[in-house]
Amino acid sequence: MHIGTLGAGTVARAIARHAVASGHHVILSNSRGPASLAAAVGDLGPLARAGTPEEAAAAELVVLAVRWPQIPAAVASLPPFDGRIVIDATNQFADPPSHSAIVDLGELTGSEFVAAHLPGARVVKAFNSLYGQYIAADPRHPAGRQVLFLAGDDPDAKSTVEELASDFGFAPVDLGSLREGGRLMQLGGPLSGLHVLKQD
Ligand SMILES: NC(=O)c1ccc[n+]([C@@H]2O[C@H](COP(=O)([O-])OP(=O)(O)OC[C@H]3O[C@@H](n4cnc5c(N)ncnc54)[C@H](OP(=O)(O)O)[C@@H]3O)[C@@H](O)[C@H]2O)c1
Repeated sequence: MHIGTLGAGTVARAIARHAVASGHHVILSNSRGPASLAAAVGDLGPLARAGTPEEAAAAELVVLAVRWPQIPAAVASLPPFDGRIVIDATNQFADPPSHSAIVDLGELTGSEFVAAHLPGARVVKAFNSLYGQYIAADPRHPAGRQVLFLAGDDPDAKSTVEELASDFGFAPVDLGSLREGGRLMQLGGPLSGLHVLKQD
């Protein structure tokens, strides 16, 4: 599979590392341009390269891993997604940090907000509920595999992400729709920051 990342920080690089280890091709992108990512892609090896956000967003599966306030700028000039899958790894941290520190979208969940910014994308929320070090680490432990919660409104898209996550070594757990499952996983939800292992 060809996977593009919008953002090339902690989360994008951790996912990219699992992806190349599983034999996938990765395009990392950020706002500063491909040249700024030379060291990062060198570190990931020959299956990784740097590209523009437009090139990354053209991949068959795209990972959105920018900070919450960066989302509108990161997706504004991208062409329609035409049914391609976007993994939304973001968390709605307020910026600048406010009293509550979480952006209040009312009834809307974070990934529904993200989906509204990505016309034609099949959005699957995943990886956001794990701390970065647990995304980066080998998810296979003697006591079981690291659980990866996911949510989305398209069953086929979720199956693809579940397969990918299983290849990485995670134990995917489908929580349902972006509205119901997304609420459980997002900041303030009961599964946000919950790190559990699943025995096979
Ligand atoms: N870190 C964690 O433990 C963790 C865990 C789970 C979920 N998350 C969530 O995942 C998201 C990413 O977190 P992170 O820790 O990876 O953040 P990060 O290390 O700050 O990385 C953000 C990346 O986004 C890029 N970026 C900024 N503006 C952009 C734009 N307009 N277009 C394309 N790329 C742009 C930045 O590069 P340039 O500035 O060079 O453009 C940077 O590479 C956040 O929403 C966070 O809440 C984080």
